[in-house]
Amino acid sequence: MRTVRILGIGGTHRPESASELSVRHALTAARATGATVRLLPARTLDLPFYGEPATGAEPAFIDAVRWADGLIIGSPGYHGTVSGLLKNALDHLEALRDDPRTYLDSMAVGLIACAYGDQAAASTLATLRTIVHALRGWPTPLGVTINSARCGFGAGGEPNDPAVGERLTILGRQTVEFCRRHRRAGSGPARTEALIDTAW
Ligand SMILES: Cc1cc2nc3c(=O)[nH]c(=O)nc-3n(C[C@H](O)[C@H](O)[C@H](O)COP(=O)(O)O)c2cc1C
Repeated sequence: MRTVRILGIGGTHRPESASELSVRHALTAARATGATVRLLPARTLDLPFYGEPATGAEPAFIDAVRWADGLIIGSPGYHGTVSGLLKNALDHLEALRDDPRTYLDSMAVGLIACAYGDQAAASTLATLRTIVHALRGWPTPLGVTINSARCGFGAGGEPNDPAVGERLTILGRQTVEFCRRHRRAGSGPARTEALIDTAW
């Protein structure tokens, strides 16, 4: 059986983006458990506004999500919620509506929110969970909030606060673990057609 595939999505265009470094850290933990991992950083999320004419950048994003068994998504807290860049990319997952696996059905999704204050980090994490629920994904039990005013990242990309590193590691492991449990349970992705019009 092939290895579990985990796709990281997120970050900002800032060179030292805490949300991107956090996703990287969680992906490293996922890889350490034997998963195959990929990262889609901010520059790959530069998609046209959903509904605008296509630019050709969208299929790579959609196909990467199709490739994955689980996701790890990281967002900055912008004015108390997810960045427009990330939200717009997630809006493009509408392309998965009629897939055999509808949206993020049956997928584990680890969620990370980084903000300069605890309040925005918490509200951003809550919003990410709401979005993932709407897409029928399964947020992991642990979500990680990071106060980027208090916790920086070292030259190697590791968080200065070991407790933050530990939480990101647990999140990476939980994402893989859920994917493996789901496989063992033998419950393949469900195409819950009847719910499509009522899930939102
Ligand atoms: C447009 C914008 C809006 C922001 N709004 C908030 C906010 O409402 N609350 C907060 O605590 N931090 C806010 N921040 C700070 C970012 O959440 C913080 O710097 C975060 O680490 C950015 O993510 P990054 O490190 O991945 O670039 C804002 C930053 C920007 C650029």
